[in-house]
Amino acid sequence: MKQPPMIAPSILSANFAKLGEEVNAVLAAGAGIIHFDVMDNHFVPNLTIGPVVLKSLRKYGITADIDVHLMVEPVDRLVEDFIKAGATIINFHPETTQNVKRLITLCKQNNVKVGLVLNPDKPLDLISEYLADMDTLLLMTVFPGFGGQAFIPDVLTKIAKARDMIDQINKPIRLKVDGGIKTTNIADVSRHGADTFIAGSAIFESKDYKQVIQEMLEKAKI
Ligand code: DX5
Ligand code: ZN
Repeated sequence: MKQPPMIAPSILSANFAKLGEEVNAVLAAGAGIIHFDVMDNHFVPNLTIGPVVLKSLRKYGITADIDVHLMVEPVDRLVEDFIKAGATIINFHPETTQNVKRLITLCKQNNVKVGLVLNPDKPLDLISEYLADMDTLLLMTVFPGFGGQAFIPDVLTKIAKARDMIDQINKPIRLKVDGGIKTTNIADVSRHGADTFIAGSAIFESKDYKQVIQEMLEKAKI
């Protein structure tokens, strides 16, 4: 079953010079969780932030849930580092480790939620054996690396299939989408079965975070 809609602003598009304030601003505007993109200039062609930045946000007083999206290879050691840094949820791509099962177990043992991520060209078969053990499934609707890319509509059928797979298991697994989510396409994505919407540029490049997040939440109620 679909979970209540949730908007997850991706801080990739935030002003990093005032990150704490930006995070508080989107939380006050109605964000349900903060999406934290970690890129290594190897698995994806860009370099962003690591565990020290998450630790700093916690120290600054951010208690909200933080959804860490690891785009690094190999991912193994960073899963441990992000558990220690205070992640609420850890998402990783199955091809970035030789032992998916071990990392899922490690997160669970540390009371950190865990999920797998699929790029637009990766089939659901890659995660089906792990789905029942996951808290969330993240489907990329762009090829990861940069904010501000256009949503890839071909992924909609995969979203609908993933929704069916989750409903068959009958567990509260959140189905997230990431990339090119805007107020103009969120209703359609929601209709196909997603319940958690990661959005970077649509929120942080707007003048009024609250207006965008509230409009997204309203349109996702389908
Ligand atoms: C893509 C990242 C996304 C990105 C989304 O590589 O994983 O989280 O920040 O940004 P927008 O919403 O601008 O596509
Ligand atoms: Zn992401």
